Amino acid sequence: MRTQVCIVGGGPSGLLLSQLLDRAGIDSVVLERRSREHVLSRIRAGVLEWGSVELLQAAGVGERMQREGYVHEGVTLAGGADSFRIDFRDLTGKAVMVYGQTEVTHDLYAARDAAGGIVIDRAEDVAIHDADGTSPHVTFTKGGRTSRVDCDFVAGCDGYHGVSRQTIPRDRRQVFEKVYPFGWLGILSETPPVSDELIYAASDRGFALCSMRRKDLSRYYIQVPLSDRPEDWSDAAFWDELRRRIPPDAAARLVTGPSIEKSIAPLRSFVSEPMRWGRLFLVGDAAHIVPPTGAKGLNLAFSDVHYLYQGLRAHYHDHDDTALDQYASKALARVWKAERFSWSMTMLLHRFPDQSPFDRRVQAAELDYLASSRAARTSLAENYVGLPF
Ligand code: APR
Ligand code: PHB
Repeated sequence: MRTQVCIVGGGPSGLLLSQLLDRAGIDSVVLERRSREHVLSRIRAGVLEWGSVELLQAAGVGERMQREGYVHEGVTLAGGADSFRIDFRDLTGKAVMVYGQTEVTHDLYAARDAAGGIVIDRAEDVAIHDADGTSPHVTFTKGGRTSRVDCDFVAGCDGYHGVSRQTIPRDRRQVFEKVYPFGWLGILSETPPVSDELIYAASDRGFALCSMRRKDLSRYYIQVPLSDRPEDWSDAAFWDELRRRIPPDAAARLVTGPSIEKSIAPLRSFVSEPMRWGRLFLVGDAAHIVPPTGAKGLNLAFSDVHYLYQGLRAHYHDHDDTALDQYASKALARVWKAERFSWSMTMLLHRFPDQSPFDRRVQAAELDYLASSRAARTSLAENYVGLPF
């Protein structure tokens, strides 16, 4: 089989790239290791920057998001009983869209199907060959048969555990990593959200986040030690702990119910450089991970997709490789700003096991500074709604 761009990984990055390329008349084939049902059942974060919203609209997949998503014009930050609002609209003129990544992925699969796009799922043993040469190709097996895709470029959209990053020789890669000593225990519950907007709460007992998917579907998280397992937490224990960590007025309003999903995600910051190796381009989680505190993971993946799409379009339409050659540096410049923001939100809002009384006072002072300074809130807001692409 021959295509222009072989896309490894059928998560949101790979699908959005193939959708944008298709609309520009550029062929691609997507190879996904898992089954489509598996990909579509993964529950991930749910906050889209406005740039991500516009990119999905430009890709022709914004219709259901527009109808069913929720525009949020601010968030609440709480430190114990004190809380204050960050007003995105007032501070930046922008807002974010609350619409689950699971729904985004559904919409992208539907769009690829409608356009007759090739997405091969259950593709095993995907291997990328001659990425730094002139005839890149990708091999995989499916149902015991090995196939080969010849292409001009490979887009490595296969997430943190994928093969794309590993294809770049170890001595040519530099990895930057920070592992945080806790995880987030998250639950999804068919209850009305405690608030119309998200609440990020830094309590003495640890961080908590109140988020939502719909008017009748809530998403909540609490910081837990890495040694905890989801089965250690009954629903009742989760609700009790959440109530203790969020502001009293929210705790009094909280409606509880059975969890329909419960899982623990560790927190890490990770960047692998470079994001290009010959004709292989890394996109999204394949090259970088952020802790979820700033809601940046999916958005960062989408800004990579944007840069790569611009580069490939200029290559095929205008025979101009300037944008493609700038892909890695442009993407990384934005990645590091989002890494910084996600790290700073994580450091501000969590309890760390080895924290000294000095560290705690500094956290409290930073929250107080945000509460009292418009300049500080503007800085947080412009990062939260997303820096320009
Ligand atoms: N071959 C083919 N596909 C693979 C391989 C492989 N060897 N390894 C992994 N994949 C697939 C995974 O099964 C997954 O469907 O690649 C896809 C990668 O998807 P994600 O991990 O969701 O990564 P990405 O598309 O970059 O999405 C952005 O940012 O912070 C996160 O939650 C956010 O998942 C979102 C991500
Ligand atoms: C979510 O709704 O899952 C969510 C929201 C905001 C975050 C992280 C996760 O910062």
